[in-house]
Amino acid sequence: MKVIYSYFYRYIKIAIFILFQILFIQLFQLLKPWPIKFAFDYLIEKKSLPFSAVSYLSFDTQLFILCASFVLIYFLLGAFVLLNNISKIYFGNAILTDIRTDIYRKLQKIQISYFNRKSAGDIIYRTINDTQSIQVIATKIIFPFISSIILLFGIFVVIFQINHKLLFVFFFTTPILFLSISFLNKAIFKVSNKLREKESTLLSTVEYFLNNLSVVRIFNKEDSENKKFQISSSDVLNQNLKLNIFDTVHAWIVNVLIAVGTAAILWFGVKQVLSNNLTIGDLIIFISYLESLYGPINSITQSISLYYESMAGIKRVLSLLNENEIIVDGHENIKDNIINHIEFKNVYFSFDSKRWIIKGANFKIFRSDKVALIGKSGSGKTTIVSLMIRFIEPTMGEVLINSKNIKEFKLKSLRDNICLVGQRPVLFSGTILENINYSNLDISDYEINEVLKIVCLDDFVKNLPDGIHTYVGEKGTMLSEGQRQRISLARALLTNAEVFIFDEATSAIDNSTQKRIFENIMNRFQYKTIIYTTHRLENVSYSDYVLVIKEGMIFKTDKSDLKI
Ligand SMILES: Nc1ncnc2c1ncn2[C@@H]1O[C@H](COP(=O)(O)OP(=O)(O)OP(=O)(O)O)[C@@H](O)[C@H]1O
Ligand SMILES: [Mg+2]
Repeated sequence: MKVIYSYFYRYIKIAIFILFQILFIQLFQLLKPWPIKFAFDYLIEKKSLPFSAVSYLSFDTQLFILCASFVLIYFLLGAFVLLNNISKIYFGNAILTDIRTDIYRKLQKIQISYFNRKSAGDIIYRTINDTQSIQVIATKIIFPFISSIILLFGIFVVIFQINHKLLFVFFFTTPILFLSISFLNKAIFKVSNKLREKESTLLSTVEYFLNNLSVVRIFNKEDSENKKFQISSSDVLNQNLKLNIFDTVHAWIVNVLIAVGTAAILWFGVKQVLSNNLTIGDLIIFISYLESLYGPINSITQSISLYYESMAGIKRVLSLLNENEIIVDGHENIKDNIINHIEFKNVYFSFDSKRWIIKGANFKIFRSDKVALIGKSGSGKTTIVSLMIRFIEPTMGEVLINSKNIKEFKLKSLRDNICLVGQRPVLFSGTILENINYSNLDISDYEINEVLKIVCLDDFVKNLPDGIHTYVGEKGTMLSEGQRQRISLARALLTNAEVFIFDEATSAIDNSTQKRIFENIMNRFQYKTIIYTTHRLENVSYSDYVLVIKEGMIFKTDKSDLKI
């Protein structure tokens, strides 16, 4: 929780300003019925107002002053509420932006394996929705709670000053209102939480369908999917109906309770008025205050329920903020941007500390080596290359670059010099050009054409109506898998990296095109270090030597030793 308070503390001056506004707002709330009281108790009784500054003025002027002050109270109350709302929104948003930015920064540092374990939906929910809890705590819990307490306190003090005897009606009504409102609010919270759950189920039903569209159709599951949707949809409607009924019943019960309180005041009040112990004006103030009891009591009970709900969100935010699986940045740059060797020294790696994926890897790759990394599916090829760019860290042992632990280097310097093309091509919605020059915006048309030739996409792009400016669709879905892979390759080849790593980067491309791409790359980048993983044995021919992964162990082999 200290972490959360530290966010509040950054804006302490605004918080104090808001508290002052709240004091004024509640003062005006209390003043609301007073002009009417003075009208009844003095002017209607043909007496002058009990203020020496105005008591000598004419009757009309005094009445006018009373009417004007009535309007003025409402005007100032509104103005302060406006100022207060603006300040609260600013305060809440400032805190929300700060915490979201911190979480976003944190996400950039967390190990890639964390994201494999958590669903994207969960992380998005924590970053966007759960963080709102901190805003809710600031704007909808703390300040309304304080203002309600001040108002309740004010009401009791004023009533105590006027007439002790009627105070008991307030003492009697307040707890009953409090108990019944909090009971009803609890029920409403339950229903509205259920409604939110049902709505999210409905959303995920649609999301599931969209993600698995082709599988649903291939296996003729449209009918069962429709049924799921219908059930989800009617669940939402039912909960909505329930919530509406609860809301209306809530208002009904509260109104009746307030009427009972008012009736009690009328009963005792009228008697007191008749026995001259109370003025009509005072009675009006009592009735008006009794009606305004609902606001603060409701707000306090809501604040309490909201508090518990928000704490659940805050806990999820904190667990993300305190996530310690982070990659700590190093301090050094890679000298002259030259990588003379990458070395694995007794590296062990496990995702879950139960099963070793890599068991004691020892090998050294030198500058401008061409290395094929081969092994069965699931043998750990992607794991090895992820260790080279610090997507993940060795569980034991060291990865060395130029004989220094990889952890000493700045991540930026490391990733500027080692560029990985992953197994699954990642494209953004945008044009082909935007996808290619993401790595290097200053690239010339000539260089782009050159790289398109290397990845054998030049003819394809030329023949598109919009050429390089063709839109590729959401995640590049308007292109074939092989085309997407080649765009990913082109994006990497345009960087100035010293080492290129291709993790099955050409697996979806036909053999003859793949052969041309490999030959082009090896010719064009003969001085760069190239490490590539592959299932296809024939691809080892472009390498100088082969690293074979088998049961977590790595052996260096000559390519001629492999039966192709
Ligand atoms: N995030 C993860 N959490 C737990 N285990 C994982 C995770 N990612 C991979 N694995 C396991 O680690 C092993 C090695 O995976 P890796 O992706 O390195 O294999 P690969 O050799 O690249 O396979 P492929 O040729 O199919 O791409 C696999 O057995 C896999 O089950
Ligand atoms: Mg792999």
